[in-house]
Amino acid sequence: MQREEKNFIETHPRSKAIFERAKSSLLVGVPMNWMIRWAGPYPIFLKEAKGAYVTDVDEHQYVDLCLGDTGAMFGHSPKPVVDAVVRQVRRGITMMLPTEDSIWVGEELERRFGLPYWQFALTATDANRFSIRLARDVTKRNKILVFNGCYHGSVDEALISLKGGIVVPREGNIGPPTDPAITTRAVEFNDLDALEAALANEDVACVLCEPAMTNCGIILPEPSYHDALRGLTQRFGTLLIIDETHTICCGPGGYTAAYDLKPDIVTLGKPVGGGIPAAAYGISEEVAHRALAKIKANSTDESGIGGTLSGNALSVAAMKATLEHIITREAFERMIPLADLLANGVEEIIKAKKLPWHIVRLGARMEYGFGPSPPKNSKESEALEDPELDKLIHLYALNRGILLTPFHNMTLISPYTTAKDVDIHTKAFKECVEELTSPSVEEAKQH
Ligand SMILES: Cc1ncc(COP(=O)(O)O)c(C=O)c1O
Repeated sequence: MQREEKNFIETHPRSKAIFERAKSSLLVGVPMNWMIRWAGPYPIFLKEAKGAYVTDVDEHQYVDLCLGDTGAMFGHSPKPVVDAVVRQVRRGITMMLPTEDSIWVGEELERRFGLPYWQFALTATDANRFSIRLARDVTKRNKILVFNGCYHGSVDEALISLKGGIVVPREGNIGPPTDPAITTRAVEFNDLDALEAALANEDVACVLCEPAMTNCGIILPEPSYHDALRGLTQRFGTLLIIDETHTICCGPGGYTAAYDLKPDIVTLGKPVGGGIPAAAYGISEEVAHRALAKIKANSTDESGIGGTLSGNALSVAAMKATLEHIITREAFERMIPLADLLANGVEEIIKAKKLPWHIVRLGARMEYGFGPSPPKNSKESEALEDPELDKLIHLYALNRGILLTPFHNMTLISPYTTAKDVDIHTKAFKECVEELTSPSVEEAKQH
């Protein structure tokens, strides 16, 4: 680690100088606090990003397997999006009136996700917040249910942890507005008995979940889990909101289309505008019917859903171009085999070195974890965490021209990633593992 940190500092002088300067005007030296979470002693500052690559101010180019933590999941500045955005910028950015593109996007999202009515937002957080409000309104219930270890953006009700069966604020959560036990029930993913017990009171407005969890490592649903989740929510009159922000890595219609899920509401964000702030939420005929009277009657802008810039002409034009040209079946036909290649390479090394590690796959996404088998819920996932090892692997990769998402070992393949890029990662991973398992490291550990 010391060698890697020294190497990082020696090769990133310009980022260091900029970071030092930034500290006097930006809180913690970056424009958004998560940006200091990278493995180096300071963040790298970027000059540009294109396709599957980013270049920093010290002129290093990286194979980007983080892809803006999915905001650029389908590549940086893809040409069709750039062209559409430039065209729209010239014709008006935000007018508080709809453009025809919005209908194309609504119709396309209906075709992909099977839900008839759509509204737009600028972030997945907001798409989730607005969906929760709709769920509360139509069910006349207050509580929501989420899975322990979830992340749905800075949605107050979902920034929770389950500690000894009690819902508490997530560690590090700044200024929670209220005790989340009042607003939220939480259970572990894949635990149907706990889910049934939590819904049985019939006071839960909605379950908000990712179809496969991606924010505490990847946690896949057990076979028929989704049938049971849908069955229980329907039995107890609870709406099901599926957050596809990350799981759109499974195909053009996300996990929902790939596994034929039938949620009441779907939320989308981050990559849906190709990197331009854009998000969307789709609702069923029944939810629309139950919510409509209030939305129509509301003569002011105080409904709590929507915002001045939501659905603005620029973000809608970006969504149209992204859906039409970028998040396509053809793109997935390139991405999935490369994710296979990436996963197979890592798995072979893990097996050859007899490491007690595993990999998990989810569409064009792969993650490695430090336990012999994939966790079934966040509690198991937490038990496998090894922050020191995590940091070392990330820094090791960074120093060899690879960006991994800082929060976990997530690797994403974009339509622009090549087999050569995958090999760069496989080679660095192999080198790292070889060093870690070399007799000299083993000896050092003994002492
Ligand atoms: C599943 C999921 N939903 C929602 C969000 C929130 O996205 P944003 O920060 O763009 O609002 C995230 C962010 O990582 C996420 O992982």
